[in-house]
Amino acid sequence: KIYNVILSGGVGSRLWPLSRKQHPKQFLKLFSGKSLFELTAERNVGLVDELMVVGNHDHIEWSKDILKGINAPKQFITETVARNTAAAIAFAALAVDKEDILLITPSDHQIQDDENYEKAIRESIDLAKQGFLVTFGVIPSKPETGYGYIEYEGKNVLSFREKPNTETAQEFLERGTFLWNSGMFCCKAGSLLEELKNYQQEIYERCTEVWELSKGNILNAEASSRIPSLSIDYAVMERSRKIKVIPAYFRWNDLGSFESLYDYLRSNGHPVDENGNMVIGTDIFTAFVGMKNCIFVFTTDAVLILQKEKSQEVKKVYAKLDKYK
Ligand code: GDD
Ligand code: MG
Repeated sequence: KIYNVILSGGVGSRLWPLSRKQHPKQFLKLFSGKSLFELTAERNVGLVDELMVVGNHDHIEWSKDILKGINAPKQFITETVARNTAAAIAFAALAVDKEDILLITPSDHQIQDDENYEKAIRESIDLAKQGFLVTFGVIPSKPETGYGYIEYEGKNVLSFREKPNTETAQEFLERGTFLWNSGMFCCKAGSLLEELKNYQQEIYERCTEVWELSKGNILNAEASSRIPSLSIDYAVMERSRKIKVIPAYFRWNDLGSFESLYDYLRSNGHPVDENGNMVIGTDIFTAFVGMKNCIFVFTTDAVLILQKEKSQEVKKVYAKLDKYK
């Protein structure tokens, strides 16, 4: 059986104040009245047998509601505390048969070109059946520090580096032998658990304990808080030798930061002034004086003004907030 595991437990801190704890970015209806979460499910439903959402307790009912219109079997795994993607993916793998295939997708991506997408997914499923952990590689266009980098030769992966600093990212870009990790993965549930056990035994064991204590796909909160919080990229992808990569010939946008949202909006006709400044979230007339490449983000109770290139640092602002999260 093939599952689309939709990871939907992130808070989207880099898109604050658009994205809020109670209203994270994947649920914002930014795209012709639809959210990225809904678009993810629609994109994958025809390629798999079942949808499986792993997400936070606060939003799971909302997810169910959004997916009501989609005619496919569905499962929901409810987290009470977010323990990052290694754990979220481990739970998905524990919920199914070891031979089942997981197509793991974030819920905050925008993808165009269905035909190439489908081709890439079908190819990844074949490789996953052979026991590989399959990633999807995007041709990099700038030294982005928010992504993972895959050093590749054909479909083989020589190395994987998650979120390098700017200098290293620049070097990777110049070498021309690296792809961006798109953040989607395809593998057998059993292969994933095996590699997690090999490289992050503690996460593997804690997740197994939590799974045994949990009822009806609702994860035990107390036991969950003891799981080390690590992303799958650091936990497994940087270390496993069973990784393959499929080049992504479809158009891919991670709308995870204001810089990528800016690029996306700009190429879709959203206004930008002569110095590259952009306003998001309001129609009130706004003038920028002496500023270049700034983004002004307006919401009813919070405003953010940032230099576009500093988009990754919005996370730090979010981390310091106690109100307005
Ligand atoms: N269920 C659940 N629980 N989902 C989570 C959790 C969690 O604790 N934490 C994050 N997620 C979800 C997010 O909602 C998102 O859909 C997905 O997992 C990836 O998390 P991000 O926080 O967006 O990761 P990232 O953007 O920093 O990095 C990943 O994606 C990049 C491309 O977009 C990595 O895989 C990078 O290597 C990759 O380049
Ligand atoms: Mg992301």
